[in-house]
Amino acid sequence: MSNVVLEKVSRVFGDFVAVDGVDLRVSEGEFVTLLGPSGCGKTTTLRMVAGLEQNTGGRISIGNEVVSDAGRGLFVPSERRRLGMVFQSYAIWPHMTVFENVAYPLRVRRKSTAEIGDLVGKALRLVEMESFAERPAPALSGGQQQRVAIARALVFEPKVLLLDEPLSNLDAKLRLQMGDEFRSIQKRLGMTSLYVTHDQAEAMALSDRVVVMDRGRIQQIGAPEEIYRYPANRVVAAFFGTPNLLEASVEACARIDDRRVRLDVVGKGWRGACESASEIRPGQAVTVMVRPEDARIAPPDAAHRDHELRWSGQIAHTIFRGPTRSVVVQTGDGRLNVDAPSFGDFAVGDNVTVVVPQTSAWAVPEQASIAS
Ligand SMILES: Nc1ncnc2c1ncn2[C@@H]1O[C@H](COP(=O)(O)OP(=O)(O)O)[C@@H](O)[C@H]1O
Ligand SMILES: [Mg+2]
Repeated sequence: MSNVVLEKVSRVFGDFVAVDGVDLRVSEGEFVTLLGPSGCGKTTTLRMVAGLEQNTGGRISIGNEVVSDAGRGLFVPSERRRLGMVFQSYAIWPHMTVFENVAYPLRVRRKSTAEIGDLVGKALRLVEMESFAERPAPALSGGQQQRVAIARALVFEPKVLLLDEPLSNLDAKLRLQMGDEFRSIQKRLGMTSLYVTHDQAEAMALSDRVVVMDRGRIQQIGAPEEIYRYPANRVVAAFFGTPNLLEASVEACARIDDRRVRLDVVGKGWRGACESASEIRPGQAVTVMVRPEDARIAPPDAAHRDHELRWSGQIAHTIFRGPTRSVVVQTGDGRLNVDAPSFGDFAVGDNVTVVVPQTSAWAVPEQASIAS
């Protein structure tokens, strides 16, 4: 069952289209993340689901109820949508205790004192903040304040939780920890969650499915592994990590299975095979994505094996990153980034071969207008 449904949802500000025909179905209990660069329309989309912003086109439903339909002029106000919300700025009220902060949504809903005591206790236990109930909110650390904000969003047991960059004010380590904690609470409660972030690592670690947005439009929807491994286009390919994006031309195409075809491609000074999602005609241009972690540095005279792509080149420079060493190899077709072992046997100036299994090279239809 779909719990949140967006059908051709748009939002125009003046003549600027901030959100452009978004179609999305979030299932009950699912954790879906809107991911994309700053300004791509994530917050606007979330605010329309929240009822804090009115969509200028399309229709939004929550749990089988249409809450906004631009065509019919229907709009259910935010407070009647039964949503929990957590935003980037925690919006913890400084003059209240932790207990009172979490109790606030229940007082607004005129719950009894006994019920408030029960529900607040339960919410604080979930985020492991029960022993802080009587503390003044400003005495808490950033991570603790964010837990209180999550408890406050959960306290009236909303059908759906909306979160807009809730972790972005925390330092990197705490962000990871809070993300993992939040994910386990969400799973335990089976709560439908729509989450917004510009952080690809966070999106991948938390989500059942990721929605990649760019300039108001959905570029791809899929499980994190699927989007990372099989990007639909160059924008999505370039958004995750720092992949090598190589221009090539298709020579032959053969279907492997429902999902993939095998392409024989020729690039500038190299040729080989890779995989792709859709049949691409011979002669057509493609971008071949090679992730640095799928590439390997081999000696210049390494024996040629089947099912490999190879480039000859020279090591231009290396950057030590701790767990890996980034190696930049100058080839006849530009520079290739390789994630090599931190203490591998190579040095700047070495002649080397860059080797990539053809199953980890992925081609997308060329979109020349979009810079990588
Ligand atoms: N109230 C508004 N008036 C005019 N433009 C807006 C308004 N709200 C958002 N925008 C514009 O819409 C685009 C998308 O904004 P937003 O949804 O906040 O992006 P994101 O959350 O992905 O960073 C941006 O270009 C932003 O400037
Ligand atoms: Mg935003």
